[in-house]
Amino acid sequence: MKGLLITLEGGEGSGKSTQIQLLARWLKEEGHEVVCTREPGGTPLAEEIRDLLMVPRAETVAPLAELLLYQAARAQHVRDVIRPALQRGALVLCDRFVDSTSAYQGAGRTLPEEAVMELNRLATDGIWPDLTLILDLPEQEGLQRARNRGSDDRMMEETLSFHRNIRSAFQRLAQEEPDRITMVDGCLSPEEVLEALKERISALLQEHSLSQERSS
Ligand SMILES: Nc1ncnc2c1ncn2[C@@H]1O[C@H](COP(=O)(O)OP(=O)(O)OP(=O)(O)O)[C@@H](O)[C@H]1O
Ligand SMILES: [Mg+2]
Repeated sequence: MKGLLITLEGGEGSGKSTQIQLLARWLKEEGHEVVCTREPGGTPLAEEIRDLLMVPRAETVAPLAELLLYQAARAQHVRDVIRPALQRGALVLCDRFVDSTSAYQGAGRTLPEEAVMELNRLATDGIWPDLTLILDLPEQEGLQRARNRGSDDRMMEETLSFHRNIRSAFQRLAQEEPDRITMVDGCLSPEEVLEALKERISALLQEHSLSQERSS
């Protein structure tokens, strides 16, 4: 694939959306085609599924139903947005992706890890992040930030221990896959977080341009 898929992950309010915007501005200034997108969402159908997933509701959502809705949105998003962008050679910045599903539906909802991973693979159909940046932050801090910003999505209603499990799951994923995943301290200032992310992305871009040169 000519392009690169970079995903931003982390708990509620960890700074993902803030950093994606800053990174996109920087990468565009550097002359790259940048596609910013998010999950769940990124296409009209997937955004409709997002609305279904986010809105607080009286009915308890079955964990498996939730997992399948996320994966349905993802299949559409990968086919119609992410894959074509990568084929064109764009840098795709995605706000949440497969690791959020592992953390929230696996560790959070306690669905079997292998089932979550199998559906991640099925929905992404051969596309996988080249780099994943996890913003790590104590759960109370992230939830407070998200509340201050005015967030009321369904995950915000979960207990502190649910969000603690999510944080531990992201930390575990980072330990298991140090080559793909870099974890950054989300408690740093936005400028400091940005510097750390830029450093890691610069290294990836350098590796990528070398491998493109070798194959051309
Ligand atoms: N490094 C930071 N330090 C302090 N506040 C921050 C930092 N980064 C972002 N914020 C603020 O915290 C709030 C949440 O940030 P942001 O929306 O980027 O997080 P998010 O990870 O996208 O959240 P969500 O999971 O709810 O989408 C915003 O009000 C933002 O301005
Ligand atoms: Mg966000």
